[in-house]
Amino acid sequence: MAKLTVKDLDVRGKRVFLRVDYNVPLEEKDGQMVITDATRIVETLPTLNLLIAGGGKLILTAHLGRPKGKREPSMSLAPVAVRLAELLGRPVAFVDDCIGPKVAEAAAKMQPGDVVLLENVRYYNEEEANDPAFAAKLAEGAEVYVNDAFGAAHRAHASTEGVARVVAARGGRCAAGLLMERELKFLGDELDHPARPFVVILGGAKVSDKITVIDRLLEKADTILIGGAMAYTFRLAQGAQTGKSLVEADKGDVARSALQKAAARGVKFLLPSDDVIADPVKTDKLDKKGKPVIEFQNVRVNQGVNCPAESAGLDIGPATVAAYAAEVAGAKTILWNGPMGLFEDKRFAEGTNAVARAVAEATQKHGAKSIIGGGDSVKALNKAKLGQQVTFMSTGGGASLEFLEGQVLPGVAALSEK
Ligand code: 3PG
Ligand code: MG
Repeated sequence: MAKLTVKDLDVRGKRVFLRVDYNVPLEEKDGQMVITDATRIVETLPTLNLLIAGGGKLILTAHLGRPKGKREPSMSLAPVAVRLAELLGRPVAFVDDCIGPKVAEAAAKMQPGDVVLLENVRYYNEEEANDPAFAAKLAEGAEVYVNDAFGAAHRAHASTEGVARVVAARGGRCAAGLLMERELKFLGDELDHPARPFVVILGGAKVSDKITVIDRLLEKADTILIGGAMAYTFRLAQGAQTGKSLVEADKGDVARSALQKAAARGVKFLLPSDDVIADPVKTDKLDKKGKPVIEFQNVRVNQGVNCPAESAGLDIGPATVAAYAAEVAGAKTILWNGPMGLFEDKRFAEGTNAVARAVAEATQKHGAKSIIGGGDSVKALNKAKLGQQVTFMSTGGGASLEFLEGQVLPGVAALSEK
């Protein structure tokens, strides 16, 4: 990577504007917001510790949720400051604004090694609009810009992009944090030169979400294994019956052209040969959005590629699990993005869990390098307590996908060259 990193900086006594992605899942418990997964906080600790040891004054900026310019109390970063202090083992001052006199006052009091976390930057609409005047306010007093928010690097917002420009224009340096560096190394360099065979597992609901990634990976991978509802769009394109499975009927061309490209390039492109299906039945219950809750009844294994008219495919079947696990076992490099089925429901989780076990085993027993592209796959691995047994799990969802698509991430582009 040609970008400057925190390891190249001398921050002693300097004010460091540090953008982190602390957009963590929260749940309300007895009127309090509780963090249910602190991975994104934990993963920034090496960067924080390095900058603290270097004597920097750290001013952390982050977003939480999508408050759309309003001071939405459930999206306050206050609980994150508490958890960060616990994890860091040192005080973290919280300022309930991200610009203005309160921030200036807190910053003026800081000593080298001090840490301050500012309130949700998306309480201002100017953040997402990447408003230059707002970026200048955020950047006030900042001598160095560090971006460790890989998960938000696909956003050209004021704190991820605009501030870097302001700091750079003043002659200040803009560097990647250690997490950002790791993300770019594993999702970038490692996959550009993969040890072979390179096996890619892709799942999730929609072909349209993943088609650019599929297209790009068809140029690099030896094998691509498809699971999740998007498999049904491929099946439909091949003329199979998909019943009530989730399909994108208008994406047949896209699916066919991917299949053709795979054949032309000699990429082994596998679709499920069996699946777990069930009959969706509308109930009287309503979900949070006011839509009728669908119950899945009559869960069973379905052999072959045709789904009965009254049923929907919800997970890959046992024969597919065995075939995919065998491919994974022989891999030297593995990239996994997207679940194999509706894994939130135990009855449809076995395909995803089996893939998680196969990836962990290939890593631990055969020395494969396994890279997990964020989002639901990470959730599934953590749920199966296998997170420690893979090589790398991305903290990015949308960001990792856009990066794998080969897009330039604005938050990365804005950093200084070495
Ligand atoms: C994420 O959780 O994907 C990142 O923090 C970005 O959040 P956003 O999708 O609301 O921009
Ligand atoms: Mg997102």
